[in-house]
Amino acid sequence: MSDDRPVSIVSGGSRGLGLAAVERLLDRGDRVATFSRRGSDRLDDLASHAPQRLFAARIDAADPTAITGFVAATVTRFGRIDHCVANAAVAAEGVLATTADETVANLLAVNLQGAIVLTRECVRQWLVQRRTAVPSPGPSVVLVSSIVASRGSPGLTVYAATKAGLEAFGRSLARELGSRGIRVNSIAPGFLETELSASLSPADRARIVRRTPLGRLGTPLDVVGAIDFLTSDRAAFVTGQTLIIDGGGAA
Ligand SMILES: NC(=O)c1ccc[n+]([C@@H]2O[C@H](COP(=O)([O-])OP(=O)(O)OC[C@H]3O[C@@H](n4cnc5c(N)ncnc54)[C@H](OP(=O)(O)O)[C@@H]3O)[C@@H](O)[C@H]2O)c1
Repeated sequence: MSDDRPVSIVSGGSRGLGLAAVERLLDRGDRVATFSRRGSDRLDDLASHAPQRLFAARIDAADPTAITGFVAATVTRFGRIDHCVANAAVAAEGVLATTADETVANLLAVNLQGAIVLTRECVRQWLVQRRTAVPSPGPSVVLVSSIVASRGSPGLTVYAATKAGLEAFGRSLARELGSRGIRVNSIAPGFLETELSASLSPADRARIVRRTPLGRLGTPLDVVGAIDFLTSDRAAFVTGQTLIIDGGGAA
């Protein structure tokens, strides 16, 4: 008997926001494919409880061939893809003048190239799927950006550039693919309580909290509802947008 449950890809699903998205999408009944470089105990635990519904691979988002192989393996495992959440990213703090070539290259390779290649591979699959069956709801992409893409942040210039590039990519792709019923949106969280932001100094953390109308840093759970929404038919007429989720406007 064929399995009709939607198939969602989430990159960087081993911890933080990606892990919360994997859990939410499994909870709503999706089959989920994810990757990270190292995996995590929590992901192993989820996979042991839902082996038919969770595929977790270990690959580097900076390697386009590995991403292509991961998407092909997802299709082999689950038969199709419905949603793509490009979440995996790295951050590197430091003023531009002291930022090394390798740091720039890695940020671009993981955050921008990795997300673009993952999205492209999903789009290629959707063009094939269209010839056989039209999935319902239509396919969608969620690109995980950051508030720093639009607001700016000293010490995060290259990271901000990758996120701004991702949002621009998403806006154009939404125009390119709208006629095919494929939606593309971005989300731009403010600072979240995850490993990525662990290097925030107490002073910076206090400044962000002070400037945030809702008075705290966000958590992955504050953001996964938007991923759930944007990858559902409740968002069937939403595309080309960036949804800011930052507690009201901290910079
Ligand atoms: N935390 C924040 O304050 C914040 C704010 C705004 C936006 N965001 C965005 O939200 C997303 C999730 O961030 P997070 O805070 O959840 O980060 P996180 O806790 O550091 O998790 C990042 C995830 O991406 C994976 N990853 C990193 N580099 C990878 C690579 N080269 N290849 C494959 N997987 C890789 C990590 O696994 P491995 O390390 O094992 O590879 C991990 O699963 C990112 O796009 C980030 O830019 C975060």
